[in-house]
Amino acid sequence: MPSIRFRLNGVDTEIDADPDTSLLTILRGKLGMTGSHFGCGAGECGACNVIVGDHAVTACDTPLWSVADKEVTTIEGLGDAQKPHPLQRAFIAEQALQCGYCVSGILMSAAALLKQNPDPTAADVKTALDRNLCRCGSHNRMVRAILRAAAEMRAP
Ligand code: FES
Ligand code: FES
Repeated sequence: MPSIRFRLNGVDTEIDADPDTSLLTILRGKLGMTGSHFGCGAGECGACNVIVGDHAVTACDTPLWSVADKEVTTIEGLGDAQKPHPLQRAFIAEQALQCGYCVSGILMSAAALLKQNPDPTAADVKTALDRNLCRCGSHNRMVRAILRAAAEMRAP
């Protein structure tokens, strides 16, 4: 098996696997990063979103080979209960989620947006979340939460 190297949540990572295996399979199976979820498996729902470089990508249809020598961030690298990311705090403050299934992918889309655009408009946020499916109707709260986190992150 070829060996593929990349940085995962700031840690040098090397994995022996078929390079055509999906990144999601490797993250969840071999690396125990189960915060990225399998939804549609076809690049349509965003539940599996991670950040590669500065961009949110659907890990379910991203082949392992394509992240060689790149920086990959999963929800586990965003923050945790002890040190939550401003987005995670804002989602809780705005009660902007109902399930635990789609929201990790939504947070990764939002984090990628804020990397690229620290001062987004509501329209920018809606565009960034356009490919994340959520069936519970939390969308407006999510937009508020992301704008709230962006403001906090910009504050001196
Ligand atoms: S599981 Fe990857 S986009 Fe739906
Ligand atoms: S937060 Fe998951 S369905 Fe809305």
